[in-house]
Amino acid sequence: MNVTDTYEGTIERELFSAEEIAQAIARLAVRIAQDYCRRPVLLLGVLKGALYVAADLARALGGQPDGPSESAVDYLCVSSYGNASRSSGEVRLLKDATEPVTGRHVLLIEDIIDNGLTLGYLRALLGERQPASLRSCVLFDKPYHRLVDVPVEYGGLRVPDAFVVGYGLDYQEVFRNLPYLAQLRPEVFTDR
Ligand code: PRP
Repeated sequence: MNVTDTYEGTIERELFSAEEIAQAIARLAVRIAQDYCRRPVLLLGVLKGALYVAADLARALGGQPDGPSESAVDYLCVSSYGNASRSSGEVRLLKDATEPVTGRHVLLIEDIIDNGLTLGYLRALLGERQPASLRSCVLFDKPYHRLVDVPVEYGGLRVPDAFVVGYGLDYQEVFRNLPYLAQLRPEVFTDR
Protein backbone atom coordinates (compact mmCIF):
# COMPACT_ATOMS: atom_id res chain seq x y z
CA MET A 1 0.00 0.00 0.00
CA ASN A 2 1.32 3.36 -1.00
CA VAL A 3 0.42 5.52 1.98
CA THR A 4 2.42 7.77 4.20
CA ASP A 5 1.87 8.58 7.85
CA THR A 6 0.33 11.90 6.84
CA TYR A 7 -1.90 10.29 4.18
CA GLU A 8 -0.45 12.78 1.75
CA GLY A 9 -1.57 12.10 -1.82
CA THR A 10 -3.93 9.29 -0.82
CA ILE A 11 -7.15 11.24 -0.32
CA GLU A 12 -9.20 12.04 -3.43
CA ARG A 13 -11.60 14.40 -1.66
CA GLU A 14 -13.33 15.04 1.61
CA LEU A 15 -16.98 13.90 1.57
CA PHE A 16 -18.20 14.92 5.01
CA SER A 17 -16.32 17.19 7.39
CA ALA A 18 -15.98 16.46 11.09
CA GLU A 19 -18.56 19.17 11.73
CA GLU A 20 -21.05 17.67 9.26
CA ILE A 21 -20.59 14.27 10.90
CA ALA A 22 -21.16 15.77 14.35
CA GLN A 23 -24.34 17.43 13.09
CA ALA A 24 -25.60 14.16 11.62
CA ILE A 25 -24.97 12.38 14.91
CA ALA A 26 -26.77 15.14 16.80
CA ARG A 27 -29.80 14.70 14.51
CA LEU A 28 -29.75 10.94 15.05
CA ALA A 29 -29.52 11.44 18.82
CA VAL A 30 -32.65 13.62 18.82
CA ARG A 31 -34.66 10.98 16.97
CA ILE A 32 -33.34 8.12 19.09
CA ALA A 33 -33.95 10.02 22.34
CA GLN A 34 -37.57 10.63 21.37
CA ASP A 35 -38.17 6.97 20.57
CA TYR A 36 -36.46 5.57 23.68
CA CYS A 37 -37.86 8.27 25.96
CA ARG A 38 -37.44 7.23 29.62
CA ARG A 39 -36.61 3.63 28.72
CA PRO A 40 -33.21 2.01 29.24
CA VAL A 41 -31.30 1.22 26.06
CA LEU A 42 -28.30 -0.98 25.35
CA LEU A 43 -26.10 0.62 22.70
CA LEU A 44 -24.14 -2.04 20.85
CA GLY A 45 -21.36 -0.67 18.68
CA VAL A 46 -19.99 -2.88 15.91
CA LEU A 47 -16.20 -2.84 15.94
CA LYS A 48 -13.99 -1.86 14.61
CA GLY A 49 -15.64 0.65 12.30
CA ALA A 50 -18.21 1.95 14.79
CA LEU A 51 -15.72 2.80 17.52
CA TYR A 52 -16.16 6.55 17.03
CA VAL A 53 -19.83 6.74 16.04
CA ALA A 54 -20.94 4.60 18.98
CA ALA A 55 -18.92 6.68 21.43
CA ASP A 56 -20.07 10.00 19.98
CA LEU A 57 -23.70 8.91 19.72
CA ALA A 58 -23.69 7.64 23.31
CA ARG A 59 -22.46 11.03 24.52
CA ALA A 60 -24.93 12.91 22.32
CA LEU A 61 -27.78 10.81 23.72
CA GLY A 62 -26.69 11.65 27.25
CA GLY A 63 -27.30 15.31 26.51
CA GLN A 64 -30.88 14.83 25.34
CA PRO A 65 -33.75 15.93 27.59
CA ASP A 66 -36.35 13.16 27.97
CA GLY A 67 -34.03 10.64 26.31
CA PRO A 68 -33.37 7.08 27.44
CA SER A 69 -33.56 6.56 31.20
CA GLU A 70 -30.10 5.02 30.96
CA SER A 71 -27.73 4.10 28.14
CA ALA A 72 -25.45 1.11 28.58
CA VAL A 73 -22.63 0.86 26.05
CA ASP A 74 -21.08 -2.34 24.78
CA TYR A 75 -19.23 -3.41 21.66
CA LEU A 76 -18.98 -6.55 19.62
CA CYS A 77 -16.57 -7.18 16.79
CA VAL A 78 -17.23 -8.65 13.36
CA SER A 79 -15.34 -8.69 10.12
CA SER A 80 -16.43 -9.22 6.56
CA TYR A 81 -13.89 -7.27 4.57
CA GLY A 82 -10.67 -8.55 6.06
CA ASN A 83 -7.96 -6.41 4.52
CA ALA A 84 -9.63 -6.19 1.12
CA SER A 85 -11.47 -3.25 -0.40
CA ARG A 86 -14.45 -5.43 -1.31
CA SER A 87 -16.53 -7.48 1.11
CA SER A 88 -15.77 -11.19 1.19
CA GLY A 89 -19.46 -11.82 1.81
CA GLU A 90 -18.60 -13.96 4.81
CA VAL A 91 -19.31 -12.33 8.16
CA ARG A 92 -17.33 -13.57 11.14
CA LEU A 93 -18.03 -12.82 14.78
CA LEU A 94 -14.62 -12.02 16.23
CA LYS A 95 -15.81 -10.92 19.69
CA ASP A 96 -19.28 -11.18 21.14
CA ALA A 97 -20.96 -8.56 23.31
CA THR A 98 -20.34 -9.03 27.02
CA GLU A 99 -23.73 -7.60 28.03
CA PRO A 100 -26.77 -9.90 27.90
CA VAL A 101 -29.40 -8.72 25.41
CA THR A 102 -32.39 -10.84 26.40
CA GLY A 103 -35.31 -8.65 27.42
CA ARG A 104 -33.45 -5.38 26.72
CA HIS A 105 -33.97 -2.61 24.18
CA VAL A 106 -30.96 -3.03 21.92
CA LEU A 107 -29.73 -0.45 19.43
CA LEU A 108 -27.04 -1.69 17.06
CA ILE A 109 -24.69 1.07 15.94
CA GLU A 110 -22.79 0.74 12.68
CA ASP A 111 -20.49 3.09 10.82
CA ILE A 112 -21.63 2.02 7.36
CA ILE A 113 -23.97 -0.33 5.53
CA ASP A 114 -22.97 -1.50 2.07
CA ASN A 115 -24.22 -4.92 0.90
CA GLY A 116 -26.08 -5.30 4.22
CA LEU A 117 -24.70 -8.75 5.08
CA THR A 118 -23.04 -7.61 8.30
CA LEU A 119 -26.14 -5.96 9.71
CA GLY A 120 -28.33 -8.81 8.50
CA TYR A 121 -26.07 -11.30 10.25
CA LEU A 122 -26.05 -9.33 13.49
CA ARG A 123 -29.79 -8.74 13.56
CA ALA A 124 -30.39 -12.47 13.10
CA LEU A 125 -27.81 -13.35 15.75
CA LEU A 126 -29.13 -10.91 18.34
CA GLY A 127 -32.76 -11.53 17.43
CA GLU A 128 -32.34 -15.15 18.51
CA ARG A 129 -31.47 -13.88 22.00
CA GLN A 130 -34.93 -12.34 22.32
CA PRO A 131 -34.27 -8.70 23.10
CA ALA A 132 -37.28 -6.56 24.07
CA SER A 133 -36.61 -4.64 20.87
CA LEU A 134 -33.86 -4.51 18.26
CA ARG A 135 -33.13 -1.54 16.02
CA SER A 136 -30.20 -0.29 13.97
CA CYS A 137 -28.51 3.07 13.65
CA VAL A 138 -26.09 3.46 10.73
CA LEU A 139 -24.19 6.66 10.14
CA PHE A 140 -23.18 6.17 6.49
CA ASP A 141 -25.30 4.51 3.84
CA LYS A 142 -23.92 3.05 0.61
CA PRO A 143 -27.13 1.77 -1.01
CA TYR A 144 -25.73 0.76 -4.41
CA HIS A 145 -24.81 -2.90 -3.85
CA ARG A 146 -27.33 -4.12 -1.27
CA LEU A 147 -27.63 -7.90 -1.25
CA VAL A 148 -30.09 -8.23 1.63
CA ASP A 149 -33.00 -6.04 2.62
CA VAL A 150 -32.17 -5.19 6.21
CA PRO A 151 -34.03 -2.55 8.23
CA VAL A 152 -32.17 0.59 9.30
CA GLU A 153 -34.40 2.53 11.66
CA TYR A 154 -31.96 5.41 12.07
CA GLY A 155 -29.97 6.28 8.95
CA GLY A 156 -27.56 9.18 8.55
CA LEU A 157 -25.61 10.26 5.49
CA ARG A 158 -25.61 8.78 2.00
CA VAL A 159 -22.14 8.34 0.55
CA PRO A 160 -21.12 7.96 -3.11
CA ASP A 161 -20.29 4.60 -4.65
CA ALA A 162 -16.60 4.90 -3.89
CA PHE A 163 -14.09 3.52 -1.41
CA VAL A 164 -14.46 5.71 1.66
CA VAL A 165 -12.27 5.98 4.73
CA GLY A 166 -12.11 7.95 7.94
CA TYR A 167 -14.22 8.37 11.07
CA GLY A 168 -13.75 4.67 11.84
CA LEU A 169 -13.59 3.32 8.30
CA ASP A 170 -10.29 1.86 7.23
CA TYR A 171 -8.30 0.54 4.37
CA GLN A 172 -5.95 -2.17 5.66
CA GLU A 173 -6.39 -0.75 9.19
CA VAL A 174 -5.16 2.70 8.14
CA PHE A 175 -7.22 5.93 7.94
CA ARG A 176 -9.68 5.09 10.75
CA ASN A 177 -8.48 8.06 12.78
CA LEU A 178 -9.25 10.68 10.15
CA PRO A 179 -11.82 12.99 11.77
CA TYR A 180 -13.69 13.36 8.46
CA LEU A 181 -15.00 10.96 5.80
CA ALA A 182 -12.93 10.88 2.63
CA GLN A 183 -12.80 9.17 -0.71
CA LEU A 184 -9.61 7.27 -1.25
CA ARG A 185 -7.69 7.60 -4.49
CA PRO A 186 -8.25 4.38 -6.51
CA GLU A 187 -4.54 3.89 -7.07
CA VAL A 188 -4.04 3.48 -3.31
CA PHE A 189 -5.80 0.13 -3.16
CA THR A 190 -4.46 -2.61 -5.30
CA ASP A 191 -6.96 -5.46 -4.81
CA ARG A 192 -9.90 -4.18 -6.86
C1 PRP B 1 -17.36 -2.75 7.61
C2 PRP B 1 -18.28 -1.82 8.37
C3 PRP B 1 -19.52 -2.66 8.56
C4 PRP B 1 -19.53 -3.55 7.34
C5 PRP B 1 -20.57 -3.09 6.37
O1 PRP B 1 -16.73 -3.60 8.51
O2 PRP B 1 -17.71 -1.44 9.60
O3 PRP B 1 -19.47 -3.44 9.74
O4 PRP B 1 -18.22 -3.47 6.74
O5 PRP B 1 -20.49 -3.77 5.15
P1 PRP B 1 -21.65 -4.66 4.55
O6 PRP B 1 -22.94 -3.91 4.68
O7 PRP B 1 -21.22 -4.79 3.10
O8 PRP B 1 -21.67 -5.97 5.27
P2 PRP B 1 -15.42 -4.46 8.15
O9 PRP B 1 -15.84 -5.86 7.82
O10 PRP B 1 -14.63 -3.74 7.10
O11 PRP B 1 -14.66 -4.51 9.52
P3 PRP B 1 -14.18 -3.25 10.42
O12 PRP B 1 -15.45 -2.63 11.00
O13 PRP B 1 -13.32 -3.88 11.44
O14 PRP B 1 -13.45 -2.28 9.53
